[in-house]
Amino acid sequence: MKVNQVELVISAVWVEQYPDEQLPEFALAGRSNVGKSSFINKMIQRKSLARISQKPGKTQTLNFYRIENQLFFVDVPGYGFAKVSKKEREKWGEMIETYITSREQLRAVVQIVDLRHKPTNDDVMMYEFLKYYQIPVILVATKADKIPRSKWQKNAKVVRETLDFDPTDDFVMFSSETGMGRDEAWHAISAKMDQ
Ligand code: GTP
Ligand code: MG
Repeated sequence: MKVNQVELVISAVWVEQYPDEQLPEFALAGRSNVGKSSFINKMIQRKSLARISQKPGKTQTLNFYRIENQLFFVDVPGYGFAKVSKKEREKWGEMIETYITSREQLRAVVQIVDLRHKPTNDDVMMYEFLKYYQIPVILVATKADKIPRSKWQKNAKVVRETLDFDPTDDFVMFSSETGMGRDEAWHAISAKMDQ
């Protein structure tokens, strides 16, 4: 998909702030610093619309990006970032949980993991949480550019096994650096737009 029009409609924390539009939504989930914002930027081919940093914890609200009047990407703060207080973590949990469990427009969660490593306990918990609520998942294993091609399949298998991956979900190997997997990810998203 060629994207011309992108707008950050709102950075929301609570339900009353979510946009009123009825467009399908795709929320990002993943460890802090794993590459969620970079994924969005690659998909829409903007260098830095969704904010990226070396420092984990950059994204702190639910950021609703409207794409071509067709869908929203909802950038979500990462989990597993140790340097936040317990209170902040609870607030985070509530914000994400409320959104994921109550938002009718949510068509799928794009869960991002790092293809280089075995998924963390937090990754496993997030996937289990999504499956418990029967949310379709597009699992994106990113940073493929950081390991040799000869390891891709083997690492993908470790990711699937560790998550007890549901074969009816989509699995995409990806790189925000090279654009690998971009078409496949758009394909998975398009297929879920009308569901
Ligand atoms: P939070 O908002 O803090 O949760 O982080 P995030 O998941 O949005 O991660 P972000 O997109 O900000 O990326 C974190 C770091 O990883 C940045 O330095 C990115 O440039 C880098 N990065 C993300 N994706 C890739 C990738 O596919 N390949 C490489 N080589 N680097 C990547
Ligand atoms: Mg981010």
